[in-house]
Amino acid sequence: MVQATLCLFPLLTVVQVYCSPFASPKMHMHEKRSGIPAEFIAMGAAAPNETLSLRVALIQGKFSGLEESLYAVSTPSSPSYGKFLTKEEVEAFVTPSDAATSAVQAWIKSHNLNVAAVSPAGDWFSLDVTVQQANELLSADFKTYQHHDTNLTAVRTLSYSLPAELQPHIAFVHPTVSFPRTLSRASHRGFRQLPNLFVPGAVGHNKKNGTAPDSCEQQVTPVCLQDLYNIPRTPANQKNNSIAVTGFLNEYANEADLSEFLIKFRPDMPADTTFTFESINGGVNPQGSGTAGGEANLDVQYTVGLSTGVPVQFISEDPNGEKGILDDFLATVQFLLNEPTTPNVVTTSYGLSETSDEESVPLLINICNAFAQLGARGTTVLFASGDGGVAGYSDDCGSDSNFSPSFPSSCPFVTSVGSTTGIKQEQAASFSSGGFSNIFPRPSYQEKAVSNYLDSLGDTYSGRFNASGRAFPDVSALGIGLQIVANGSIEAIGGTSASSPIWASIVGLLNDELIGKGMPVVGFLNPLIYEHPEALKDITLGSNPGCGSDGFSAAIVPGYDPVTGMGSPRYDRLRAVLGLDES
Ligand SMILES: *[C@@H]1O[C@H](CO)[C@@H](O)[C@H](O)[C@H]1NC(C)=O
Ligand SMILES: *[C@@H]1O[C@H](CO)[C@@H](O)[C@H](O)[C@H]1NC(C)=O
Ligand SMILES: *[C@@H]1O[C@H](CO)[C@@H](O)[C@H](O)[C@H]1NC(C)=O
Ligand SMILES: *[C@@H]1O[C@H](CO)[C@@H](O)[C@H](O)[C@H]1NC(C)=O
Ligand SMILES: *[C@@H]1O[C@H](CO)[C@@H](O)[C@H](O)[C@H]1NC(C)=O
Ligand SMILES: *[C@@H]1O[C@H](CO)[C@@H](O)[C@H](O)[C@H]1NC(C)=O
Repeated sequence: MVQATLCLFPLLTVVQVYCSPFASPKMHMHEKRSGIPAEFIAMGAAAPNETLSLRVALIQGKFSGLEESLYAVSTPSSPSYGKFLTKEEVEAFVTPSDAATSAVQAWIKSHNLNVAAVSPAGDWFSLDVTVQQANELLSADFKTYQHHDTNLTAVRTLSYSLPAELQPHIAFVHPTVSFPRTLSRASHRGFRQLPNLFVPGAVGHNKKNGTAPDSCEQQVTPVCLQDLYNIPRTPANQKNNSIAVTGFLNEYANEADLSEFLIKFRPDMPADTTFTFESINGGVNPQGSGTAGGEANLDVQYTVGLSTGVPVQFISEDPNGEKGILDDFLATVQFLLNEPTTPNVVTTSYGLSETSDEESVPLLINICNAFAQLGARGTTVLFASGDGGVAGYSDDCGSDSNFSPSFPSSCPFVTSVGSTTGIKQEQAASFSSGGFSNIFPRPSYQEKAVSNYLDSLGDTYSGRFNASGRAFPDVSALGIGLQIVANGSIEAIGGTSASSPIWASIVGLLNDELIGKGMPVVGFLNPLIYEHPEALKDITLGSNPGCGSDGFSAAIVPGYDPVTGMGSPRYDRLRAVLGLDES
């Protein structure tokens, strides 16, 4: 005890020599949350002998180098454009320093615990401990908490500490202070659902460039999208191409519904065109009648049914949503990073509000950085921006009425997709979430476009959003009145969850052409679209009200707005910018 006290005096270097480094280290608070999340109640101390599977995320050695490489390979004007990194090159950037690795190993061994690196890059260690051991190791107080609505329980602590000398080496320990967010499904069926107005005749399409039949004003089908966005309908033919669609929270993609969808809306495609299924951590995709999910059906029908022959993979994780959506994102991105080849496109129609007092900020940063790793390998990572206008994924904006940014849309290394509506005069869908991160600073690729918007905005909403943060969304596409087949019948569905798969299909088709010509795939899309605004159709009407405000307006200035981003796609213009016209 005396020795422990002496060790706490940094000036007594002579005394410190006698202290083994971790025998009685000075513990520093590493993460702390202000209280129990509103949707949980404390059930009491966790059983001391209960086992916890903790993960230790080490500080990645050269993440800034990875970020630089990501921009170099994704920016059309850069000499390294399209020269994507290999798995090993990406891993070399995120491998922790030797000093970090050995310090963390020594610390854990000094507690007679076993530790193993669980990621190829060595930036994640796993640590199986009892609650008692975890409490001692981390000066924590693990308790059992129960979620009000689902009754699911989670063992968590409201704070934990690390030896001071390890803080520069450890990003965070997980799961500790992050509670599983179970109710954060992104976009939902029925949101802004229109009555089913579908008439079979609507399938026919105009030959005229950039126009679509009047029926598309209210009922959006693949043909409407092809007409409006000049998307080719000829089959893609590259086998070495892929779009991955992620699914969570009991959402299953139904093959019979997809087939029915193709018969009704893509009679030119084989009705047996389907997707492959990939399970992560016990993810399932049951096909029984009545098991389909509106979200998963939408995502699969508007990728398979719009990308015309591009191979589509449906990835399902954590079927019951027990681990929470952040852990689902983490597991999915880690799974993809461990694969020898990553998909060319990944689309996700789920998200949550980026609340720094609810979520572990280091965890959000780690997940965001994992998307940068995917991008550096040439994957386009798309996320729906959220369906609550400036309130994002939150139910309310709190007493301060501050706008609520969405995650992962707020991550600068993903492409965030908002929604539009209307074909004659395409404008912002009012639910299209957009805004500014409170965690991630504005990346340089959007500096010019976003400052232009902020200059025009002036003092409006000053203090309700963080003007220095990463602005989202980046792009948009139609998101109201999409016709899908669910449980065998046609219904309308909407939300930014519709817009993200549309973009996935467009990038998938561009990749098909690029691969066919031996050119690099699209990869991380943002540097290209901000460098080439002419590749998109600027949307200059509409706004995204929320939090008791009118929201941001798309009309105040041409160019970027945090409702529709840089605009909606025009396939022919994207082709031109990618150099596909030239050969
Ligand atoms: C934990 O301890 C309790 C009470 O001592 C005992 O009943 C239980 O079997 C133990 N559980 C495990 C996993 O060892
Ligand atoms: C949660 O537990 C309560 C009390 O046991 C029960 O009434 C309720 O139905 C349970 N809810 C769920 C979703 O299981
Ligand atoms: C669409 O129109 C533009 C000019 O308005 C033209 O450059 C482009 O080639 C046309 N695309 C198609 C698919 O006809
Ligand atoms: C398929 O594409 C991946 C990149 O997405 C590339 O690494 C691989 O070499 C390609 N395989 C073939 C057979 O072209
Ligand atoms: C399908 O039908 C079942 C009942 O037959 C219902 O519970 C489910 O919500 C329906 N799913 C969809 C996507 O319509
Ligand atoms: C605003 O965003 C920056 C990152 O761009 C962050 O460092 C800062 O803490 C944020 N401010 C508030 C009040 O959240």
